[in-house]
Amino acid sequence: MATEEKTQQQGDGAVATAEQDTLTVTDNRTGERYELEVTDGTIRAMDLRGIKVADDDFGLMAYDPAYTNTASCRSAITYIDGEAGILQHRGYSIEQLCEHSTYLEVAYLLTFGELPTKPQLERWTFDVTHHTFVHEDIKNLFETFRYDAHPMGMLLSGVGALSTFYPEAKHIDDPEERYMAAVRMIAKVPTLAAFAYRHSLGLPYVYPDNDLDYPSNFLSMLFKKTEIRYEADPRLTKALDVLFILHADHEQNCSTAAVRAVGSSQVDPYSAVAAGVAALYGPLHGGANEQVLRMLRRIESPENVPDFLQGVKNREERLMGFGHRVYKNYDPRARIIQQHMEEVFEATEYNPLVEIARELEKRALDDEYFTDRKLYPNVDYYSGIIYEALQIPTDMFTVIFAIPRTSGWVAQWMEGNDDPEQKIARPRQIYTGHRDREYLPIDDREGPEKITGPPARRPKRQRRGA
Ligand code: CMC
Repeated sequence: MATEEKTQQQGDGAVATAEQDTLTVTDNRTGERYELEVTDGTIRAMDLRGIKVADDDFGLMAYDPAYTNTASCRSAITYIDGEAGILQHRGYSIEQLCEHSTYLEVAYLLTFGELPTKPQLERWTFDVTHHTFVHEDIKNLFETFRYDAHPMGMLLSGVGALSTFYPEAKHIDDPEERYMAAVRMIAKVPTLAAFAYRHSLGLPYVYPDNDLDYPSNFLSMLFKKTEIRYEADPRLTKALDVLFILHADHEQNCSTAAVRAVGSSQVDPYSAVAAGVAALYGPLHGGANEQVLRMLRRIESPENVPDFLQGVKNREERLMGFGHRVYKNYDPRARIIQQHMEEVFEATEYNPLVEIARELEKRALDDEYFTDRKLYPNVDYYSGIIYEALQIPTDMFTVIFAIPRTSGWVAQWMEGNDDPEQKIARPRQIYTGHRDREYLPIDDREGPEKITGPPARRPKRQRRGA
């Protein structure tokens, strides 16, 4: 807690006193005054620890359930200005990246901090392309899943299992091992995702094709039947590649925070990324685009949009795909997806849900209820419609989100690992339970007369063939 006056040079050449960069706190319990340093718009939570009512007091803590106002790391990967609707990776706008880069180029940028030179990109593309195969035992592992297993559960297990195939990845500070882990995860997650999809259909798994680019190879592993080579429409592979770029990273969200927290135990990167997959599985994180489709199907036709919006205003409904915790403006990712929709619909069958989506967006953006609350379409509003146009079933939407997000998780894992300020993640709690109770022998314990068991079970689902 600095109280002495220091001078420092600001970026514009002006000299400021360090006192300007402090926060004065008066503890009304003791009348003591404290000066807390303000750096990068934050105070250090550990500086609160010095605020005590007595020498043996533990000290003040910050209470922040869900970390809604806590910066947990320094990061140079992704910048978001939610008010202005800006998203940048390593300083490059998402608009420029989508226009000029491929997903693999963006994955390199996220992971290594700079756009690759031509030879670097060639090497990176070669390495990722030549590590797309998984060990046959992973295939055997997938075959043991039930026929109706959720593909996200299969992906979660598959990524966790990869750590057992590459035990040397536990040398997390070895640059060669790190590089190989990054390559392997970015290369193999699409293979696992496609295998999970084929498993759900009872179709044989399609092996990767090293002559195809990243999105074309993924579509081939999903859809190839008896043809020698699956030829994807270039408009669709371009749209999929753009969707991959748009989902590659989004700073400290639930799954990224999970990867960083688990990685802080110095576990291998496959296990850390598996934690990210688990977090993404939840409906509050990776599942919103699925909900958008369900909502559009329920609306049925553009004529029903006004009634539906009235239901939202009456708080009987939620407008899925609208609103965002961070963006209080049009989500820049949603704007970019929209630009690719026409091409996708030219290449696929007409989808009537698009008309409903457009009508819904137009009316909501004309309505003060939504504009006053800064509710604009987010990335999930249109991504589900594109996935559906690509004939990808709704169960697979979150899996497809996980494919590009793998590069973000890898980059964030590496950065967290190299950060000298980081330690094993270990939050505090406010204890609300009993203290210092006298242990009671079982015969002395009292309880209700009626013994309650677990809640009644729902009948078991029928097994196949049962
Ligand atoms: N439909 C109707 N009203 C909404 C919506 C919505 N989608 N979102 C927010 N509001 C209202 C909310 O009722 C509140 O109104 P009031 O002040 O009158 O009570 C006001 O807007 C502020 O909402 P909030 O709940 O404080 O906003 P939040 O930042 O906590 O929630 C959100 C963000 C994304 C959870 C929410 O907007 C939502 O549920 N949206 C729909 C689900 C969705 O599309 N999620 C995907 C997010 S993008 C995924 C990604 O980036 O990875």
